[in-house]
Amino acid sequence: MMKFTTRAAVAAVAAALAGSVFAWNEGGGEQDEALHLVGDPENGRDVYEVCAACHLPEGWGLSDGTFPQLAGQHPKVAIKQLADIRALNRDNPTMYPFALPSQIGGPQAIADVVAYMAKLPMTPENGVGPGDDLEHGQKLYEENCVRCHGANGEGDNDKFYPRVHGQHYNYVVRQFREIKGGQRRNANPEMVEQVKNFTERDVLAVSDYTSRIRPPKELTAESADWKNPDFE
Ligand code: HEC
Ligand code: HEC
Repeated sequence: MMKFTTRAAVAAVAAALAGSVFAWNEGGGEQDEALHLVGDPENGRDVYEVCAACHLPEGWGLSDGTFPQLAGQHPKVAIKQLADIRALNRDNPTMYPFALPSQIGGPQAIADVVAYMAKLPMTPENGVGPGDDLEHGQKLYEENCVRCHGANGEGDNDKFYPRVHGQHYNYVVRQFREIKGGQRRNANPEMVEQVKNFTERDVLAVSDYTSRIRPPKELTAESADWKNPDFE
């Protein structure tokens, strides 16, 4: 336990020095526990059954953005989001009651379901925006997002930066607004700072551009008709 205390203290000092208004990714709790466990995808399939009701058996979510695509997301990102949702660091009242330890189990269940999700191919046809302001969106993306989410929207597992390409447009817009507006409490303060002066036009344009960046072929299913055989 001593180790956690020291690390938390060091993180707090570093955050204060960096002038951050609030901390991000302090770790601890279920997140650290799940990160140190080896996930069992077999058991993860059983855990995923309840998730499939909303995120679909394929992990593709809905193209209208009600439910995000989970397939392809970096394991560390997915673990952080699940732990944050369970710890109420990120509001998700729709999902919360289904994702509790009493429903699916503790940190091992998180590691298992994430190991399972990591095997799912992404949809080749995610929801995109109207496509009427893409030049502006591209310019904004290159100037403001590449540093963390990568030139191709690929994110970074080790840094907990989400993969954003191929994600449904309406979901991207919703997250963007909530991150910018401060409602998403687990948001990265540097991202909040980076986008604080974005207008509504900027938000829509950069989200549309982001949703249209194609994930690499090796991560996507061959066809939009692909069905997850584990749930037949
Ligand atoms: C009743 C519907 C529902 C169920 C069941 C559900 N989810 Fe979700 N999930 C959602 C919604 C809605 C969101 C997006 C919330 C938002 O807009 O912030 C979400 C978001 C997520 C995210 C964050 C995605 C991201 O890109 O940050 C993860 C990870 C996730 N769900 C995993 C799971 C897992 C694993 C399960 C099963 C244990 C599950 N969900 C069950 C509705 C559901
Ligand atoms: C300083 C790094 C950084 C910059 C710059 C940044 N982001 Fe992020 N972004 C993050 C991190 C980290 C998260 C995840 C925060 C968390 O929940 O832990 C995130 C989350 C997101 C999400 C939600 C993803 C999901 O699955 O829920 C979207 C969408 C997003 N960023 C888009 C963008 C766009 C578009 C830009 C440029 C206009 C941008 N970000 C700039 C670091 C950054």
